Amino acid sequence: MSDLTVIVLAAGGGTRMKSKTMKVLHPVCGRSMVGHVLAAVRAAEPRRIVGVVGAQREQVGPHIQSLVPDCVLAVQESLDGTADAVRVGIEAVGERLTGTVLVVTGDTPLLRGETLRAFAAEHGTSGRAVSILTGVVPDPHGYGRIVREPDGAVSGIVEEKDATDEQRAIDEINSGILAFDAVFLAEALARIGNDNASGEYYLTDAIAIARADGREVGAHRIADVTETQGANDRVQLAELGRIMNHRIVTQWMRDGVTVMDPASTWIESDVVLAPDTVLLPNVQLLGATRVEEDAVIGPDSTLEDCEVGAGARVVRTHGQLAVIGAGATVGPFSYLRPGTRLGGAGKIGAFVETKNAQIGDGSKVPHLTYVGDAEIGEGTNIGAGTIFANYDGERKHRTRVGDRAKTGANNTFIAPVEIGDDAVTGGGTTVRRDVPPGALAVSSSPQRNLENWAARKRSAAPGTEPPSHEE
Ligand code: UD1
Ligand code: CA
Repeated sequence: MSDLTVIVLAAGGGTRMKSKTMKVLHPVCGRSMVGHVLAAVRAAEPRRIVGVVGAQREQVGPHIQSLVPDCVLAVQESLDGTADAVRVGIEAVGERLTGTVLVVTGDTPLLRGETLRAFAAEHGTSGRAVSILTGVVPDPHGYGRIVREPDGAVSGIVEEKDATDEQRAIDEINSGILAFDAVFLAEALARIGNDNASGEYYLTDAIAIARADGREVGAHRIADVTETQGANDRVQLAELGRIMNHRIVTQWMRDGVTVMDPASTWIESDVVLAPDTVLLPNVQLLGATRVEEDAVIGPDSTLEDCEVGAGARVVRTHGQLAVIGAGATVGPFSYLRPGTRLGGAGKIGAFVETKNAQIGDGSKVPHLTYVGDAEIGEGTNIGAGTIFANYDGERKHRTRVGDRAKTGANNTFIAPVEIGDDAVTGGGTTVRRDVPPGALAVSSSPQRNLENWAARKRSAAPGTEPPSHEE
């Protein structure tokens, strides 16, 4: 829309959250509440966005600015009500506004961009002084009620605290999202007082002012009232999370992702999935995770900021900032820490932990191993129970293993150390020095068998010496 200003109200503290974090910063599906609102606002393509912040603005202000760098930030010093907040927002713009001013609240993350865009556009062509986005809800308690004339025309909004019993029975509520003719809004704000039950300046009083001036007021009923649902406490926050997650999971299913158990599958807002991805129960895909087609993830896996290649298989895995190549297999019970890169058709198996580890195409780390600060070439196999000992107590060092190497079970690689291409190590080897390409390294001492040791131990009389380990 050509001349649209959106004012986002985010000055309230949210005391019922009982948190050191401001209410609008609490995340819902991986994005702050106000972040969701701003995404919807941007979809309406306004000329400018104004954010009104209040107490603890050092938390909210920078966050808003990081999401919308050209946002105008306004500071409301004391919470004197929604009309005061809008006035502060308009003053921060520093010029006479024209066109439409859309006011939205910062704690309604389920609001959709299309809804805002359609509402603002409808208001813009209506010639009305004010349009109200309303909803019919089962429990209107706490909301401003929409009061209508017998002919259906809106006469005003009355707040819960100021309502009569009859008005409290009205189930059509003010969502808090209002569109104004900018010129009318400036006049109305100057006329709104605070003579009410809360002693606050109510933005909603602008409706009665418009009516008194003979201006038209419109109400637009939202189809899906959950869109205007806010969160005042953590119980409502969890509910918003559930609804948002359901929305995201449903959209991915429509886009071709198989989800075996939608209720136990959590997908954050910025995750990207290719068609024919398969998600088994209890999977959480978080942050900027991306999954290519035909990958199968789960059950019981959490991937945060991970990339999963086409056709990869990830079972019971916890991964963070890891890249899993096409056709690779991971798990069960694998822990991929940041900097893990597994090549195509590679394997990270059961009870394996990796960190800053590049594992080349076709290489396998199948069992019970820690790979820290390492580079493994292509087609290499790491034996069961291997420790890449990267830490000398002061500093971290790297281990390099070449292509087509085969290392034995129960090895320890004391970094910094290098094992060449085609090299082999025996079982139980502690590798302290580089192994040249093609060489066999062994370090465990030769085995000795003490004949009849068990029988001699049994027959030793009590109080006498047990059989010696030395022959
Ligand atoms: C407000 C509306 C009510 C509506 C409800 C929807 C008024 C007077 N009432 O009531 O009709 O049904 O929202 O949720 O507008 N805020 C500020 N500065 C302030 C006060 C509030 O920025 O001084 C912000 C809050 O952070 C919040 C929004 O405005 O984002 C709404 O404030 P809140 O106190 O929740 O208003 P309600 O009493 O719920
Ligand atoms: Ca509220």
